[in-house]
Amino acid sequence: MNTHSSPSISACAVAGNLDEKMTDNAWIDVIQQMDAIYADLVTYQVELEKKNEELEQAQQFIESVLSSMHDVLVVADIDGKIQRVNQTLERLIGQRGEALQGKPLSILFPPSVAPLVNEFPEKIRSGDLIDCEVSMLDSSGELVLMAVTCKAHYAHDGRLLGSVLTGRPLDEIRRAYRELQAAHEQLKAAQNQLIQSEKMASLGRLVAGVAHELNNPISFVFGNMHALRSYESRFRQYLDEVHRNISVEAREKLRAELKIDHILDDIGPLLEGSLEGAERVRDIVQELRRFSAPKNNSVGEFDLVSLVKSAVHWVVKSARTPPQVLFDVPERLVVQASEGYIQQILINLLQNALDAVEELDQPRIDVALAARQGQAVVTIHDNGPGIAEDDLLRVFDPFFTTKPVGKGTGLGLYISYGLATEQCNGSLTVKNDPAGGAVFTLSFPVGEVRS
Ligand SMILES: Nc1ncnc2c1ncn2[C@@H]1O[C@H](COP(=O)(O)OP(=O)(O)OP(=O)(O)O)[C@@H](O)[C@H]1O
Ligand SMILES: [Mg+2]
Repeated sequence: MNTHSSPSISACAVAGNLDEKMTDNAWIDVIQQMDAIYADLVTYQVELEKKNEELEQAQQFIESVLSSMHDVLVVADIDGKIQRVNQTLERLIGQRGEALQGKPLSILFPPSVAPLVNEFPEKIRSGDLIDCEVSMLDSSGELVLMAVTCKAHYAHDGRLLGSVLTGRPLDEIRRAYRELQAAHEQLKAAQNQLIQSEKMASLGRLVAGVAHELNNPISFVFGNMHALRSYESRFRQYLDEVHRNISVEAREKLRAELKIDHILDDIGPLLEGSLEGAERVRDIVQELRRFSAPKNNSVGEFDLVSLVKSAVHWVVKSARTPPQVLFDVPERLVVQASEGYIQQILINLLQNALDAVEELDQPRIDVALAARQGQAVVTIHDNGPGIAEDDLLRVFDPFFTTKPVGKGTGLGLYISYGLATEQCNGSLTVKNDPAGGAVFTLSFPVGEVRS
């Protein structure tokens, strides 16, 4: 039996073992599932925290954008009740946002505007965009004119939530605009002054040439006057003797001694020469007056050839060693432009050319003038050293100069470029001639010229 009983005992034991094993497995299952659920929970928690952090950052971002906005901002619900405002509005009206919550938009405006503002919710519901200029009330009850825009504001599912109103104080914009305009006017005045003083500086240099030009005829007249004065005393002496009724012989002797006949022969040419000198002085003065008379900077008709020639004449006169100037110009070229500005540009270009050839043994300046496709083109080509490649673009910069202190300010070409391009609608360019020297080309429209 024992032999029998032992298998049943062992079968029980096996069954018991099986049960135990199953229970263990079930527990393991449960534990594993709990582990998985716990792991999921941890993952969700981490994700939630991450989302929370993102949400907080987004909120902080929106807060900082709202608080740094210069415009006032009001968020209202669908009935036009205030939900939120930004700090600019709080500062403007002197009230905290919380105190405004739930109140109608119209309390931000004076009573006269309230009916208009009360229509905003209806307009927003019907899809209108509101854009108007209305006054708001500031903390001291003063009216502040605003450019106001009010737009619908929707939930992510497209549901209309209400409206967002933004307003920008117009007084500030207008004041900023006025300040900008005043600054612009000041800049224009300073620029005009710069052009004027630069013009005076270059005219100053021309004075030397004028003095030289006047010197010749004046010294001529001077010399003649001295001769006439000595003749006058000899005549007086001769006439005195004649009136004392001296003998014919004594008179003839005196006439020969005082060289009265020679004087009589000489007086004519002397007077003629003096007259010529005086006329030359008069012409120079007239020419100079014409040249330096404040030219009208507004557009007018004039002969460009005579302007170029007189500019060359006066600028070259101021040179210590006048260069040879070769002209390639037509008889006349009537243009319609600003004579004053063109003259100023020409003087600057010619003075630069003169400076460039000053030290040469055979200084030479070629001046050409032509009309091409409605443009007057003036080229001034010197036989100086030309301009270093690196400097070709810099020569038009303000204060760029390679001349010694006191000789050049570096404004001539800067101002000329501005006058050519902005005032005369033309261009001013520079290049080096491969054969030597610098070539400056001024072009500008000749305008409508009467033939
Ligand atoms: N014809 C030229 N040949 C060589 N260099 C020139 C010539 N014209 C101008 N330059 C260079 O360009 C520079 C700028 O010329 P710009 O006329 O602006 O000033 P500046 O002549 O030096 O002084 P200023 O203000 O008295 O005119 C000159 O210093 C010179 O170096
Ligand atoms: Mg110059």
